[in-house]
Amino acid sequence: MNEKPMLRGEIFAENTAAIAEEYTESVSYDRKLFRQDIKGSRAHARMLARQGVLTGPEAEELLRGLDLVQKEIEEGGFVWKRKLEDVHMNIESRLTELVGEVGKKLHTGRSRNDQVALDFRLFVSDALENWQRLSKELIRVLTDKAEEHQEVILPGCTHMQPAQPVALAQHLLAYAWMLKRDFERMADAAARVRVSPLGAAALAGTTYPLDPDFVAEQLGFTGCFANSMDAVSDRDFALEPMFGAALCMAHLSRLCEDIIIWANPAFGFVRLPDAFSTGSSIMPQKKNPDVAELVRGKSGRVYGDLFSLLTTVKGLPMTYNRDLQEDKEPFFDVHETLSASLAVMAAMLKELRFNAGRMRDSLSRGFVNATELADYLAGKGVPFREAHRLTGRAVALAEGRGCGLEDLPLDAFKDISPLVEQDVYAVLSFEAAVKRRESPGGTGPRSVAGQLVSLRGWLG
Ligand code: ARG
Repeated sequence: MNEKPMLRGEIFAENTAAIAEEYTESVSYDRKLFRQDIKGSRAHARMLARQGVLTGPEAEELLRGLDLVQKEIEEGGFVWKRKLEDVHMNIESRLTELVGEVGKKLHTGRSRNDQVALDFRLFVSDALENWQRLSKELIRVLTDKAEEHQEVILPGCTHMQPAQPVALAQHLLAYAWMLKRDFERMADAAARVRVSPLGAAALAGTTYPLDPDFVAEQLGFTGCFANSMDAVSDRDFALEPMFGAALCMAHLSRLCEDIIIWANPAFGFVRLPDAFSTGSSIMPQKKNPDVAELVRGKSGRVYGDLFSLLTTVKGLPMTYNRDLQEDKEPFFDVHETLSASLAVMAAMLKELRFNAGRMRDSLSRGFVNATELADYLAGKGVPFREAHRLTGRAVALAEGRGCGLEDLPLDAFKDISPLVEQDVYAVLSFEAAVKRRESPGGTGPRSVAGQLVSLRGWLG
């Protein structure tokens, strides 16, 4: 079969220059959309028959041919041709080889502009489902780890400086909640992705009596486009999930940063699983948190992908412009990167071992019970500002002696404020400090248990 006329028609006297063909092709990567392309074509063919544009037997023949093409691709026998530009033309051309003239009727009432928008929406929709499944799995692992470590406490930090003691469970659950919002953002975006653009044709709609709603319904989409020009122009349906992915990567990156810091022997809060760390080529003692570092590093590339597509879309006049072909690679990259990152994080976290002893030891450095003393004095009627000042004196005193607040003798406290009694030592206990924080969402054990119950309920 002569491939040239398919896209060149009669108006071109010359073939495309090889260099132009190579520059403009997309089949080298958009072949990833073959399942979605065939799925969309099936729905289109059925709709055409239902509307009387094609006969029933014609549509049957097209469906049979599309099955054959899909099988060929899946079994690796399909020959992709660069000359045919993209996945759509490759499939249509092979379909016509297989079923003959009727193959040329498939594209009735359709343009590649609405076709590619549909294929891409189907792909993004599948990707979102996958991200949701993987993020849920990671939330489950975090919840399991939190549940196992409700008794473990460590210094909570602000400004990366010891601030107040917190439960390890509370720290881990903070990430579970972030990821749950990421999950919800993906679900929200999916509702806007699952809108079918098929029937918009090139840009203006078509003269054929199409039924876009029927197509949408067959594809399991929630509805179809309202405006043909919008349908073929915008890529917000990819951008919104890409933003969700970028934010999710930001959350993963922060979790990785904590793990990296905790794995430093100066902290020693976690032991990196051997299976998830690597050695150094020169320093035999090294155990490097490369997986966590790479997740942190790859967040940058996902932001880059998001900005790449945002920039592509920014200056485009109505409606379809070939620039839009640049939408797919950044999205594919986001999809692969986020999926792999979520999966590796879940696998690594499962194996992570926390060193409760090291966390406990580090509580006595950094005066994380200073707020307790201030609150204690305030409870005895000292105005909080004054209590804050007096506590500062106690900290300075302990610092000078090289001990913790809890190690100061009672008369030292009495010098600072006569209101301090023996009961101050119970108040300065780190465990007690955590137990007292039962304010809603606080680090107290009942609050943490409540969070676990609600996350478990959500996880199902
Ligand atoms: N490969 C093209 C893309 O990805 C398909 C649409 C081509 N449409 C056109 N009018 N040339 O955007």
